[in-house]
Amino acid sequence: MPLIETSTERLLLRAWRDADLPALVALNADAEVMRHFPAPLDAEQSAQMLARIQAHFDEYGFGFWALERRDNGELIGATGLAHVGFEAPFVPAVEIGWRLARAHWHQGYASEAARAALAVAFERLGLEQVVSFTVPVNLPSQAVMRTIGMRRDQAGDFLHPLLPSGHPLQAHVLYRIQRSEWQAGASMGIAG
Ligand SMILES: CC(C)(COP(=O)(O)OP(=O)(O)OC[C@H]1O[C@@H](n2cnc3c(N)ncnc32)[C@H](O)[C@@H]1OP(=O)(O)O)[C@@H](O)C(=O)NCCC(=O)NCCS
Repeated sequence: MPLIETSTERLLLRAWRDADLPALVALNADAEVMRHFPAPLDAEQSAQMLARIQAHFDEYGFGFWALERRDNGELIGATGLAHVGFEAPFVPAVEIGWRLARAHWHQGYASEAARAALAVAFERLGLEQVVSFTVPVNLPSQAVMRTIGMRRDQAGDFLHPLLPSGHPLQAHVLYRIQRSEWQAGASMGIAG
């Protein structure tokens, strides 16, 4: 598949290089970044994650892009699109997600990158819908979802099937955005 990359005023959303692995390891090893996930990842798990991301790019041309600051070349995290890889009532679907290094939070980078990812989803991939999901207490992530025009599907709450029954992070909320909603937002200047 031809590789899709994109950019924003401040960021490149680019494919990963093997040289990015140390930055990904550091990101995934930060307990605060990973507080809404089962556990931080060790170096081996991050290497496996990088391989999975690169395999998704190879198959589909898009994925969770590396986020690079254009002003200084620093790799600050990941934002992108991926086919949901587990069974749920809303699957098949493409999800949008983000994970940024703590030093770069609260500067609008996640929303800026996510808008560019949605533009790829709707303008270049021709998708009809994009979903996102997280645990109810992850308010920053839900704030990004709302900022880019996604709406919570109240009927979409689900138990993440890859977590064991009774796990405290099992309950998830689901957000969606349809292509028509994104186009309406773009014409009002809030999506781009
Ligand atoms: C979620 C995350 C990417 C947000 O990154 P960010 O760069 O700080 O987000 P932005 O600066 O683009 O902010 C987007 C919106 O979220 C809000 N927000 C950011 N952090 C917040 C917080 N801690 N509490 C409440 N709202 C928050 C911002 O105010 C902004 O809302 P606005 O547009 O209405 O002002 C970042 O906190 C992160 O990487 N968290 C750890 C990984 C994670 O949980 N990923 C999501 C898994 S589903």
